[in-house]
Amino acid sequence: MAQTLFIPKEIDTNEPRVGGSAETVKKLIGLGFTVIVETGAGTASRIPDREFEAAGATIGKAADVKGADVVLKVRRPATAELKSYKQGAVIIAMLDPYGNDAAVKELADAGVTAFTMEFMPRITRAQVMDVLSSQANLAGYQAVVDAAEEYDRALPMMMTAAGTVPAAKVFIMGVGVAGLQAIATARRLGAVVTATDVRPAVKEQVASLGAKFLAVEDEEFKAAETAGGYAKEMSKEYQAKQAALVNDHIAKQDIVITTALIPGRPAPRLVTREMYSRMRPGSVIIDLAVERGGNVEGAVAGKIVEVDGIKIVGHLNVAGRIAATASQLYAKNLVAFFETLVDKDSKSVKINFDDELVKATVLTHGGKVVHPNFANAAVAAPAAKPAAKKVAPAAKDAPVKAEAKKAAPKKATTPKAAPKKTEGEA
Ligand code: NAI
Repeated sequence: MAQTLFIPKEIDTNEPRVGGSAETVKKLIGLGFTVIVETGAGTASRIPDREFEAAGATIGKAADVKGADVVLKVRRPATAELKSYKQGAVIIAMLDPYGNDAAVKELADAGVTAFTMEFMPRITRAQVMDVLSSQANLAGYQAVVDAAEEYDRALPMMMTAAGTVPAAKVFIMGVGVAGLQAIATARRLGAVVTATDVRPAVKEQVASLGAKFLAVEDEEFKAAETAGGYAKEMSKEYQAKQAALVNDHIAKQDIVITTALIPGRPAPRLVTREMYSRMRPGSVIIDLAVERGGNVEGAVAGKIVEVDGIKIVGHLNVAGRIAATASQLYAKNLVAFFETLVDKDSKSVKINFDDELVKATVLTHGGKVVHPNFANAAVAAPAAKPAAKKVAPAAKDAPVKAEAKKAAPKKATTPKAAPKKTEGEA
């Protein structure tokens, strides 16, 4: 008999994404699984039940998870949900494990084999499974759309009979996956774009997208990229030089979008009130790092605040703000990984625990916490807080925790895994 795969509706009201799409349902059925999608699971991502049904899924209710061998989700199941899961079920989601040892232990106690997608190694084979990239790319796009929405002026230059409207000036701080897409999007809207980052490799990428690069290019800058392609934390001296450089620049900008993160550390503070108080009234700052401590002084997670006439936007779950597209890509990431866990002959789950993708992402199995980064979680921990209470998207959470999570894939990845140049995504 075919194994059953369940796609639930996320119970967190702040999570509009879903772990499946019509395309992935077809693929899962093709792999030999019976697929049940909880009614309404795709509604917030604009996928009606009938679309899942047309793809071959059965529409069910939350309790149907009881019979499921596999559950494909966005966020970690809440305590109440986990109680209904079958012993030995495979769960794949963004489990947000760092700093949540009790919740990891709870997954182990529930007897499920839990995989966390944020730990996927950034290697060529796993690019199609890289949820951090698929979601950050959309967050970068959405940040520009949000900025345009809040900005009460036009972005492109317009020469009209009634006069010339100047192009908006947009400054992107932090040019990883999100920053590259933000540059590309702002350029498409006709803005004049500048960008900064501490990693020298970025300079060429910024230029190739038609933006101008601005950075303190000293000796420290030349060595600011780790072997894994991430940024190092910069010295106080460097930060002071960087602040001096961007100070005058920011005063002339209309929109600033910050995305700067450093694995294992809180987000660096890049924009102070002193800097933005010199911007024109009505200027907009979008802080995409707000959930990890924020790059911008005064940014508030989940809110748009106005300080000195400047709008500071601290939206949470920015990828979730473009849920229909985010779900489509996330679902594809999930199924690409899940396929590696399926035995094509028996058409059932057969996990190879020696596979590097499995080793990097599996948190719990056979009633135990098996991931080396969570050895402490194996020790009895206090009862887990329900995951649904969290507002932050699973790929992004409180400062240090999320940064540590970013570092994790690097541990699991072979040093050979050269950082992918992501213009293609941008
Ligand atoms: P991230 O989300 O960790 O950080 C965002 C950006 O902030 C980075 O570019 C970082 O250099 C920058 N930053 C940190 N501190 C800063 C400061 N003080 N001032 C200005 N900027 C600062 O980065 P993300 O988006 O995860 O990408 C990191 C790297 O990984 C990139 O090189 C990217 O191309 C690479 N990558 C590789 C993949 C693969 O090999 N499959 C997939 C995706 C990304």
